Amino acid sequence: MERKSMFAAAALAAFFLFSGAALAQGKKAPARPAGIDVNTCYGCHAPIPEFHAGSKHKGVSCASCHDGVDKHLADSAQRPVTRTDPANCGGCHKLQFESFATMNWNRPARFEKSQMTGPSPNPAWDKLMMPHGFTREHNLPRSHAFALMDQLLIDRAFGGRFQPKIGWQYLALSGPQKAWEVLEDLYPGQDHKAFKPGTAAAANPVCLSCKTQDHILDWAYLGDPVPGAKWSRTSKVNEMAKDMNHALNCYFCHDPHSAGPRVVRDGLIQALTRPEKDTLWHKDARATKIQVKDLGVRGFTRKIALLEKYDSKLQCAQCHVEYNCNPGTDPESGKPIGMADARTNHFPMKDVWNIAKHYTDLKFRDFRHAITGALLWKSQHPDAETYWNSKHDKAGVQCQNCHMPKLTDKKTGKRYTSHWQTNPRHYVKETCLGCHAGWNEKKALYVMDSLAGHIQGKTRKAEFWLTRLVDKFEEAIGLGVDEAALKAARDKHYEAHVHWEWWTSTNGASMHNPDQAKESLNRSMAISQEGIKILDDAVKSKRAAK
Ligand code: HEC
Ligand code: HEC
Ligand code: HEC
Ligand code: HEC
Ligand code: HEC
Ligand code: HEC
Ligand code: HEC
Repeated sequence: MERKSMFAAAALAAFFLFSGAALAQGKKAPARPAGIDVNTCYGCHAPIPEFHAGSKHKGVSCASCHDGVDKHLADSAQRPVTRTDPANCGGCHKLQFESFATMNWNRPARFEKSQMTGPSPNPAWDKLMMPHGFTREHNLPRSHAFALMDQLLIDRAFGGRFQPKIGWQYLALSGPQKAWEVLEDLYPGQDHKAFKPGTAAAANPVCLSCKTQDHILDWAYLGDPVPGAKWSRTSKVNEMAKDMNHALNCYFCHDPHSAGPRVVRDGLIQALTRPEKDTLWHKDARATKIQVKDLGVRGFTRKIALLEKYDSKLQCAQCHVEYNCNPGTDPESGKPIGMADARTNHFPMKDVWNIAKHYTDLKFRDFRHAITGALLWKSQHPDAETYWNSKHDKAGVQCQNCHMPKLTDKKTGKRYTSHWQTNPRHYVKETCLGCHAGWNEKKALYVMDSLAGHIQGKTRKAEFWLTRLVDKFEEAIGLGVDEAALKAARDKHYEAHVHWEWWTSTNGASMHNPDQAKESLNRSMAISQEGIKILDDAVKSKRAAK
């Protein structure tokens, strides 16, 4: 009751504020969507008119995206249902939705990176990452429509709990699927754990935020466990997963009320607003301005950041970045860091030269290497950071220039932005050739293949030296060399590992920043060699002493 009367007072105040402002500027009141009086809603929801009134979505009814508004108007505690399905936006934005739903049939599902020709082939991969969860399954990315489902199915995440109802025939599905129309839980009611050999239960609630925002109204800022928020960092992830259905909701990048560009990923917003002002974005003179809004009507805060203009470097960086999303270890105290700690939802937004120090300052490491005993980092996919300050970036080229070409609809002649974010090899003419006017398709592909082979080759070399370093540890530990030498070599292992792991996990590096990839991978080799020398010297003096 108390809450209702409080809202009624706010309703009046907001209504007068709004109509006053409209009158003062001599503007007409916004169009009333069919069925409901938008001013009634505006009255109780003060921030919404600021977004909706006067925007490109001003004529779009609240009921286009919120169900159960009648019950809500009769009793505001009856929470309306918010439609989160991209298909709902697609009802009015057909071209964007259909392009978003396009499949890349050239990229098979569950295509292991550790195959001989992959970015991180075995036997090096499993040895260098032992015993990390990513050694259970680590795939090349495929179409966005599958981002959520693939996360639920992968062998490292839920221990084999979730399986497709139709078995392997699920591989022939296309377009966006609602996860729970396809999957089933083989172990309902049981705790999160590895159910089958060869699997791991490494998923946690933060991982899901890089696939879906179905939980946008049920999750407080940074996933803090606060009263009223249904899900948090410490929730049971197998239960939370069952509440999620859609990959890449359109409102990740578009504010549904104003239709303006925005970002919603809390870890990114935290990085962009942290007092240290230490991210690539802070140091970029041409960085897009942001406006952070605190929202939330049910007693806890959530945040969004509106952008002054489209900036796919930030919008894609909601997921195509390095972020920490798992428990770990404090390298100073050796104590475990659990999901209750906010460091488990953290975006560094630093480049490869600054990442090792960033995690040392943050006092965080992901795992302890099974052979060397070094505390190491597991990278996610630092695509935006790799791209930042590349030659293309400095020339003002954005992710969307190469991954979201402008197309013309054959039927209507309408221009639109393709939302099929895939490998640009699928639309070289509409991307590369628009700027590299002197090239033809064949030349553009030749440029890509040349760079890909060159950088992949450097990665293989860095792996060789890192593997050699790991093998040296076995020899040195077997001989019982001094702890001081092992510690010095472990520090080298951490740094050499960072300059290799970054490039096995980032996507498209050979095109995004070939110079940085090459320099960093060469750095990895040099550091591995320094580590090898430390251990060789220690082994020699131990043998001499014997
Ligand atoms: C009398 C005040 C009042 C009016 C009028 C009102 N609301 Fe609400 N609304 C509330 C309150 C209070 C809540 C929080 C309910 C809760 O705690 O679950 C809420 C919650 C919501 C939510 C849910 C947010 C969430 O976190 O899930 C939506 C969506 C919403 N309102 C939309 C509308 C729309 C659309 C209208 C107009 C048709 C409207 N409201 C009219 C008071 C009002
Ligand atoms: C195009 C779809 C769309 C339309 C139209 C729309 N909403 Fe929403 N609304 C959403 C989505 C999606 C969310 C979830 C939060 C977000 O995306 O920021 C939301 C969240 C909300 C919330 C919760 C905000 C908070 O503080 O956390 C309220 C209240 C709300 N809408 C009211 C309205 C009202 C009132 C209207 C009509 C004036 C309206 N919405 C029109 C899609 C829409
Ligand atoms: C009921 C129809 C309807 C729904 C549902 C709807 N929109 Fe819109 N949208 C419109 C209309 C009408 C416009 C304004 C005309 C235009 O630009 O096409 C618009 C404009 C936009 C624009 C701005 C286009 C520009 O030129 O800048 C974006 C972005 C957008 N909508 C995204 C969304 C998203 C995301 C959703 C779902 C959360 C959504 N829309 C749901 C009808 C709708
Ligand atoms: C990862 C971010 C992202 C997501 C998710 C996203 N969009 Fe967009 N959208 C963009 C960008 C970037 C543009 C291009 C802006 C520009 O170049 O002016 C755009 C443009 C648009 C426009 C403006 C008209 C046009 O074609 O240029 C509409 C409408 C739109 N998107 C609808 C949608 C719908 C519907 C969905 C969900 C199916 C969606 N978007 C999902 C980033 C996104
Ligand atoms: C909500 C998180 C999210 C956002 C935002 C996002 N992506 Fe992705 N992207 C993913 C995930 C997850 C995958 C892998 C999906 C899978 O394998 O099932 C992926 C896959 C891809 C792929 C490989 C697709 C293929 O056909 O093989 C490309 C290219 C890509 N994303 C580019 C982009 C670009 C460019 C943007 C910004 C305009 C963007 N993504 C925004 C999460 C995201
Ligand atoms: C100058 C064009 C260009 C720009 C700008 C660009 N990319 Fe790419 N990207 C490429 C090319 C070309 C490839 C594929 C390289 C290959 O196949 O050898 C690629 C590959 C990718 C992939 C992996 C696709 C796959 O097949 O596995 C992802 C994901 C991706 N880019 C995301 C991004 C993001 C996010 C941004 C912005 C931060 C971005 N790209 C900016 C050209 C670009
Ligand atoms: C929006 C315009 C634009 C698009 C789209 C674009 N480029 Fe470029 N590209 C440039 C400009 C400008 C430069 C020169 C940057 C410089 O040297 O300062 C450049 C430079 C390059 C370079 C040299 C980079 C280096 O690090 O030396 C390569 C290789 C290249 N482009 C390939 C491609 C390919 C392949 C595509 C398509 C996937 C593509 N570009 C798409 C504008 C573009």
